[in-house]
Amino acid sequence: MKQALAHSWVEISERALVSNIRAHRRLLGSDTKLLAVVKSNAYGHGLELVARVAQKSGQVDWLGVASLREAMALRQAGIRLPILVLSYYHPLSQPELKDGIKHNVSFMVYELKALKTLAQVAQQVATCARVHLKLETGMARLGVSIDKAKSYLRYILRSPYLKLEGIASHFATAESRDQTFLKQQLNTYKKFIKQAGGLVPQDTLQHIAGTAASTAAPEARLSLVRLGIGLYGLWPSAANRQFVQARHHRFRLQPSLTWKTQIIEVQDLPPGTAVGYDRTYVTGRATRMAVMPVGYWDGYDRALSNKGRVLIHGTLCPVIGRICMNIFMADVTGLKNVKVGDEVVLIGKQGRGELTADDMADKTGTINYEIVTRINPLLPRVLV
Ligand SMILES: Cc1ncc(COP(=O)(O)O)c(C=O)c1O
Repeated sequence: MKQALAHSWVEISERALVSNIRAHRRLLGSDTKLLAVVKSNAYGHGLELVARVAQKSGQVDWLGVASLREAMALRQAGIRLPILVLSYYHPLSQPELKDGIKHNVSFMVYELKALKTLAQVAQQVATCARVHLKLETGMARLGVSIDKAKSYLRYILRSPYLKLEGIASHFATAESRDQTFLKQQLNTYKKFIKQAGGLVPQDTLQHIAGTAASTAAPEARLSLVRLGIGLYGLWPSAANRQFVQARHHRFRLQPSLTWKTQIIEVQDLPPGTAVGYDRTYVTGRATRMAVMPVGYWDGYDRALSNKGRVLIHGTLCPVIGRICMNIFMADVTGLKNVKVGDEVVLIGKQGRGELTADDMADKTGTINYEIVTRINPLLPRVLV
């Protein structure tokens, strides 16, 4: 599908997304709720688009976002699922918080100041602010230390304007082969819940696992898992994939994102032609070159200069020269009838060829999470 006026666009397969949601759901069984992490423009897949698919699937219980702004965008788009703001949300102006509380947005909390503000604002709108207390169990990022957590818990439970919905934490090493530290964190978490004993109401959600822990460590699933990368059809790491597939032979993930553009220029270059900025690539033979209207502004990493590959006519073609801000070039010598307007796949399948976010991540020294989240949010996302 070509997008009118778009130089590049992202197609999201509804079938793949739903199949991934179902695959995780089967693994979880009915005792564990599923929170779909749709923060950061749904890992580049399109915030509202993914939230709609998740809601329609009937298999997702919660959505997780990174900011109140994302939460409100979802409410304005008519999303009714419970939404949890996973990380930083203040200092915020009181009107913004009021709106969030009124629209049933839940907040992860780890600071007394935030609890006080939430209670104060909730009182002004005569309702309760919903909170999930985040414990520090070993990630050393955000979270209240275990020795202070009980007093925070009491504070929440005593306040008529705060409702405790969950107690959360986050794993630091879940995607690695060695689960020693994961077990340590889980023990710290469970020990706290045990010690807090009667303080914690029965229906309080307990959650700590993302995709890696949810798939590889069933004991870490507790009453809710927060799944991001795995819902989009990508694996948190090669080690996690190996570990999980050895145990669950029928568990499959399908990448749901395809990133496309089209050729805007074809040139025949004689041998010895230096291509692009800094003349970093010199043709060794007569070369047919295709030019694409995508660059690092779009999220096509400059580190792919002379390293990346794209799919044209189902064939892998090497990127030549430096990636520019809005343009890059590829060697299409040997492809028959290449012409302006032909479809180019940057991530995804074309014919028998496939280029994955993992291929791109390996080439640029990063992780698939970064590859997909950095696709410029201004590019159109289309559900196919
Ligand atoms: C707090 C929190 N929970 C869950 C997730 C989802 O992790 P994953 O994408 O590995 O499933 C993230 C991702 O960054 C996160 O920050």
